[in-house]
Amino acid sequence: MNRIIIRNKVIKFFYQNLLKPVYFLMDPELVHDRMLAFGRFLGRTSMLRSLVSAFFGYSNPQLEQEILGIKFKNPVGLAAGFDKNAMLVDILPSVGFGFMEVGSITGEPCQGNPKPRLWRLKQSKSLVVYYGLSNYGSEAISAKLAGKTFDIPLGTNVAKTNIKATDDIAVGVADYAKAFKKLAVIGDYFTVNISCPNTSGGEPFLEAENLEKLFVELDKIETKKPVFVKLSPDISDIELDGIIQVCKNHRVHGFICSNLTKRRDNSKILDRAVPPKGGFGGKIVEELANQLVKKVYQKSEGRFVIIGCGGVFTAEDAYKKIKLGANLIQLITGMIYGGPQTISEINQGLVELLKKDGYKSIPEAVGVENRVLQKVA
Ligand SMILES: Cc1cc2nc3c(=O)[nH]c(=O)nc-3n(C[C@H](O)[C@H](O)[C@H](O)COP(=O)(O)O)c2cc1C
Repeated sequence: MNRIIIRNKVIKFFYQNLLKPVYFLMDPELVHDRMLAFGRFLGRTSMLRSLVSAFFGYSNPQLEQEILGIKFKNPVGLAAGFDKNAMLVDILPSVGFGFMEVGSITGEPCQGNPKPRLWRLKQSKSLVVYYGLSNYGSEAISAKLAGKTFDIPLGTNVAKTNIKATDDIAVGVADYAKAFKKLAVIGDYFTVNISCPNTSGGEPFLEAENLEKLFVELDKIETKKPVFVKLSPDISDIELDGIIQVCKNHRVHGFICSNLTKRRDNSKILDRAVPPKGGFGGKIVEELANQLVKKVYQKSEGRFVIIGCGGVFTAEDAYKKIKLGANLIQLITGMIYGGPQTISEINQGLVELLKKDGYKSIPEAVGVENRVLQKVA
């Protein structure tokens, strides 16, 4: 067995048997806040970063890709929401991530929804999230990141401030545009989050007519960064067609499939007690997110890059998304349930899975399952 596999097994043992049992007795948001503070501390000096890298790093040239002019060392990224205020950008590369997304960042600072707003559904291997886009706002976060360089690609995820005033479409558009403008020269790509399930006024930009108004304004803002749109797994085929049509006419390069699901009629919900509000990540959203990857891949005819997100816990889960059409993947819940070595485990497992199928790189595997299905159909 190679050194990395043994290292990961030892870390996993400690996480599963010592740390996780204690963390899972504590309030989830408190644990999250402590993790952020600890991660920020670890990112402060190059010595600590190297130490973290020795415990969690993994690299293999077979995992490298260049997409939209951005170089990715591996396809596993941190999804938006874990590092809302960009506190971890110095340490995440050492944890083994191939890219990182901060935010959602809104035009104005926002406290989000009242607590409690984060729960674990242990049976379902899921998290229920009701943060409501709490973040320090586009001015503070852009000021903090301005002029900084990053060891891995950085995505800046923007959304509209969660206040009643932005229920008005024009006000909402202006709020997105403010955040977009502030972050136009920071990081490597944008995500426009139109699918937060926990905000005032719902998700009006999933409607083609409103999305059109949003992108008319965003297109006017100068930026070299490619733009992704983050989709909800709960949209109908008609809504998806409308969104893709709008995106084809504007500066959109790809989709993130997907955000949290808010539907409660999901057979993957195994826990008896479920909070009445919030969206589900983890295994509850996985199948819905996979179906969305599949549909977007089929409908976009190679025009869009796809980031698969939702329920990735293992290399097999990540590979499934890649074979359905994802070029990159993101996660949060899998890392919380599995431990911080999950990123390296997934990357190492992906190399094995590619080898087993006779592929030399990720692009060879992208969409293979979907292409076969399309041919049969
Ligand atoms: C604690 C938490 C906070 C989140 N906040 C955001 C957010 O601010 N913006 C966003 O686009 N997605 C947010 N998400 C959604 C994730 O980015 C991701 O789409 C979803 O959790 C599915 O991935 P997972 O199953 O790997 O967790 C959040 C998820 C979690 C768990």
